[in-house]
Amino acid sequence: NLGIVNIPVVITVVYSNSQQNISDAQVQSQIDILNADFRAANADKSKAPSEFADLIADSEVSFTLLQTRRYSNSTATWGTSDAVKSQYPPVSPSNTLNIWVCNIGGGILGYAQFPGGPASTDGVVISPQYFGDSGYVSAPYDGGRTATHEVGHYLNLRHIWGDGRCRQDDFVADTPDSDGPNYGCPSYPTVNCKSTDMTMNYMDYVYDECMYMFSEGQKTRMRSIFASGGPRDGFVN
Ligand code: ARG
Ligand code: ZN
Ligand code: CA
Repeated sequence: NLGIVNIPVVITVVYSNSQQNISDAQVQSQIDILNADFRAANADKSKAPSEFADLIADSEVSFTLLQTRRYSNSTATWGTSDAVKSQYPPVSPSNTLNIWVCNIGGGILGYAQFPGGPASTDGVVISPQYFGDSGYVSAPYDGGRTATHEVGHYLNLRHIWGDGRCRQDDFVADTPDSDGPNYGCPSYPTVNCKSTDMTMNYMDYVYDECMYMFSEGQKTRMRSIFASGGPRDGFVN
């Protein structure tokens, strides 16, 4: 048993205007949300229907802010080409989660690299208005859940619909088969593929206030990457 796995975090804020140069308080609000969500200490988990309440998992992963780096840059829109990572390379990616906060554009909230990819691009990118829950944030993605979702990918989670139709797997047994992403704030029960979708899972595409859980199966999948020889064993000594 690994116990609580702590993840040191370096935040790199790259801004083209003063609003995008988000405050330390906004950065800290996101760290606090990651800690709440990955430890199942989020108050809104009480909204879970009884069908799923027993599956809510404390992932036993925590996050500590090491450093916030700030850079002014004339680039207004970074896209998803990882240009921001080549201009501001990650700090110690084998044992540090790097999060770049910059304007991605194109309606994209954030994106992540799965475990096992190149070290030079490892980490998560999030647009400032979807980072944390105070300051320069934009409803309905103002609850800090974009980082929860993207860090889920960074820790090897797939979307709960497996990025395909009913039989396409997310490699997690306790997340029911789903036919595609759910959006907005779905009513319960939302039934697809002859089972109730776990629309309130962080790895669906719903509004921040309508996602509030990882499952036990997702916890197991995330934690397996920290085992010796696993793709993120650098976080465990
Ligand atoms: N990569 C997804 C996107 O940009 C992130 C979705 C996060 N969802 C959320 N409710 N914050 O669309
Ligand atoms: Zn995603
Ligand atoms: Ca599943």
